[in-house]
Amino acid sequence: MEKFIIEGGVRLEGEIRVSGSKNAVLPILSATLLCKGTFRIDNVPRLNDVYTMIELLKILGCDILWEGEKRLLVNSERAEKYVAPYEVVKRMRASVLVMGPLVARMRRAVVSYPGGCAIGVRPIDLHIEGLKKMGCHVEMKEGYIHVNGENLKGARISFPIKTVGGTENLMMAATLAEGETILENAAKEPEVVDLARMLKKMGAEIEGEGTDVIRIRGVSNLRPCDYSVIPDRIEAGTFLVACGITGGEVAIKGCIPEHLRAVIDKLKEAGMDIVEGDGTILAAMRRRRPFACDVSTMPYPSFPTDMQAQFMALMCVADGVSTITENIFENRMLHVAELKRMGADIRLCGRTAIVRGVEYLSGAKVMASDLRASASLVLAGLRSSGITEVSRIYHIDRGYERIEEKLKALGAKIERVKDEDMAARKGI
Ligand code: EPZ
Repeated sequence: MEKFIIEGGVRLEGEIRVSGSKNAVLPILSATLLCKGTFRIDNVPRLNDVYTMIELLKILGCDILWEGEKRLLVNSERAEKYVAPYEVVKRMRASVLVMGPLVARMRRAVVSYPGGCAIGVRPIDLHIEGLKKMGCHVEMKEGYIHVNGENLKGARISFPIKTVGGTENLMMAATLAEGETILENAAKEPEVVDLARMLKKMGAEIEGEGTDVIRIRGVSNLRPCDYSVIPDRIEAGTFLVACGITGGEVAIKGCIPEHLRAVIDKLKEAGMDIVEGDGTILAAMRRRRPFACDVSTMPYPSFPTDMQAQFMALMCVADGVSTITENIFENRMLHVAELKRMGADIRLCGRTAIVRGVEYLSGAKVMASDLRASASLVLAGLRSSGITEVSRIYHIDRGYERIEEKLKALGAKIERVKDEDMAARKGI
């Protein structure tokens, strides 16, 4: 296994370019199953989750090639299979996003039921209820979801809660269904809108993406297309916090500031100077300690749950007491115990963390538990005195492209080492 070794105390300065969005590219790659042909998908980030999705598409019969650093050629001519196996789904829950496209084009899908993960049970009952409303017969057998979509037809589906994956899966299923589908209380995340834009380039008839009601009129077939994935707003937000927690000055290039409105507003409230340009965010933190701010995660366009752990790291050194409430996932506070090992003063009360800012954090050995918690520990390490060792960093590689290289380019002292190297260094 690999670790990050971080020597804190360095002000970050310079500029970084944001990679393509993990949470946009995964449904976009799934959408290539909706018709036969060759797709050119640009701005694809080199992430472990992307490699897993590529592996799954190949199992389903796609031929996939990298063309250069960021472009994927996906040929779905021979994509005739419809079973998404446990061995892949257990590694990445987002594999469930192939269910909608498979039902749409093959009228069949057999998908391993995704287990939970560190941050919660993460059911997919709303995906399944929606498919049933669209005339599908759904059966659970030996850990697999068996979907028969021979009678797939449009339906009015009203989500009781916002679900990004549920909106994406059912939107894709609806593109080739008989008649019109209306998704009410639909998710409005930029990644949902990006998927809708690609589907429309493929000939899908969709309107209302980015609003609470999405209407999809089924068509008889779709065509392949070329598409470029939006930048990753969570990566951009993570680097804004890296700037804030180290008192630095950073330019974030190749991003869409509008996708980060709630995060930018909260970082300004914390005392950061932020100027937005065309595809660029210029940020500086001139205060030694940020102001304490309260945050409550909610669906887009409110403050995103995927930035909660990172923002908490910043509030650990704030001048005052903050409350951070996680409303989306029931167990997304695993970073709290690790931050406390670094000297943070955090008390958990149900879904709310009460963070009493401290003057200093100290380096420690900490362990990553999930993707965004890992980022939070790296950010805290950048601020801490002494050395921080973050283990199990395979979590962070799922969602950040070479994060240590980008941080080093801003002056951070961070190294990726293998455990055995560590042992050798210590003469163990
Ligand atoms: C997507 O997950 C993202 N992943 C998550 O990013 C993100 O945190 C989440 O949306 C919320 O924005 C991808 O896009 C690949 P949901 P998803 O369905 O679709 C409950 C990251 O760090 N729910 O919007 O799985 C669910 O338990 C990851 O990049 C049901 O109850 O999230 C949760 O409490 C983490 N039944 C809430 O809804 C369902 O059928 C929101 O989940 C579906 C969801």
